[in-house]
Amino acid sequence: MEIRKAVLPVAGLGTRFLPATKAQPKEMLPVVDKPLVQYAVEELSSSGISMAIFVTGRGKDAIEDHFDSSPELEQMLKGHGKEQLLDQVRSVSSLVQMTYVRQKRPLGLGHAILVARELVGPEPFAVVLSDDVIDAPVPCVRQMMDVFERYGRSVVAIQQVSRSAVSSYGIIKAEPVPDHNLSGRLYRITDMVEKPDPRRAPSNLAIIGRYILTPAVFGELVSTPRGAGGEIQLTDALRRLLMKEPIYAYLFEGKRYDAGDKLGFLQATVEIALKRPDLGAAFRKYLKGLKM
Ligand code: UTP
Repeated sequence: MEIRKAVLPVAGLGTRFLPATKAQPKEMLPVVDKPLVQYAVEELSSSGISMAIFVTGRGKDAIEDHFDSSPELEQMLKGHGKEQLLDQVRSVSSLVQMTYVRQKRPLGLGHAILVARELVGPEPFAVVLSDDVIDAPVPCVRQMMDVFERYGRSVVAIQQVSRSAVSSYGIIKAEPVPDHNLSGRLYRITDMVEKPDPRRAPSNLAIIGRYILTPAVFGELVSTPRGAGGEIQLTDALRRLLMKEPIYAYLFEGKRYDAGDKLGFLQATVEIALKRPDLGAAFRKYLKGLKM
């Protein structure tokens, strides 16, 4: 089946970024000049996804406004002959079709996905966490859709992390799948655990914020109790799903920035700015001139 829809959970409280996130959504923090959530929606659009389902909450209206059309602003830009900016502003609202549903309380990522059940319906779908910004030759979601097209099963994106970092992630236990088309990047998951103690972690393969899921995950989320941090964890529901159907893990090609974390956010800002044709050279010169 074709993947047409993606769920973007954006209802979290963003506590790691306080006080910046006290009155504005974490997902609207800009890396250079684009909010995090726009990087995610652009990735979906260039992957061929046609509908984004945002799971929002209180205080997240700015996200909806960002992707809406803005006639006054467009009129002003037109009047001032700022055609290039006008194109940019217009394109933001036409990247993909968008729809919104509310998570009344931030009970966890698993719960946020469950809230989107009716809008997703009985079809496989993508999940994108917009605080993971991924710079990749082929958009990460597209890479995963290609795996889904070959195997027809849920796929989670993974990356290798240091042993000391495993307690911040869902960690998988897995066996490599010999598939020469995927050059050693595919694994079949045998078990997984959310935020393990490094001494008990089954590997250093960490699940990051990109998933392709079969609709069977909803049946598991309904009965998943609260787990790590008192939240309904997606990893716990996937562990239950694993008893019923295979789940694959894909070592995606590209670089991920954990922009939900201050250091990761700064790294994303510096590296993305350096790659920008309009800023890179001047910014590189500035950085080289810093006395460190
Ligand atoms: P995070 O755990 O990274 O986000 O969730 P958070 O809870 O907002 O941030 P911290 O840890 O307090 O700093 C990953 C994604 O899932 C969403 C978040 O908005 C984020 O995009 N999320 C999380 C929800 O939509 N609902 C939740 O209940 C929890």
